[in-house]
This record gives sequence, C-alpha cells and structure tokens, in this order.
Amino acid sequence: MYVCLCNAVSDKTIRSTVQRFQPQSIRELKCLVPVGNKCGKCIRVAREILEDELNRV
Ligand code: FES
Repeated sequence: MYVCLCNAVSDKTIRSTVQRFQPQSIRELKCLVPVGNKCGKCIRVAREILEDELNRV
C-alpha cells in the first residue's frame, strides 16, 4: 500500500530501505526515500513502519 501518496512511496519500499540502510530516525529515512516532503500526512505512518522494522531484529 502507499504510505506517501504525494511521492508514491509504498510500505514495502520503506521496509526494504530500513532493512538495507538502517536509518535511525525519520530524518535519516527522509534522506533515503522521499517521504513527508510535501503535505507531511505520511510522516506518522512512516515513523511507525521505521520503528517496527528497527524493532524486528
Ligand atoms: Fe507524503 Fe504527502 S503523503 S508528503
């Protein structure tokens, strides 16, 4: 499903990016994938996915 509609970024893209590059904050994630840089509505869900992936190990 799309998390960020503005930039067409899916949850799968966010999960694979987190697994691969291990960003430690939403700020670091934003450097890797274009989430939250327009309307900002996706930030909360993107953060939840980031935390979920980081806690997975
Ligand atoms: Fe992500 Fe708008 S939905 S910036």
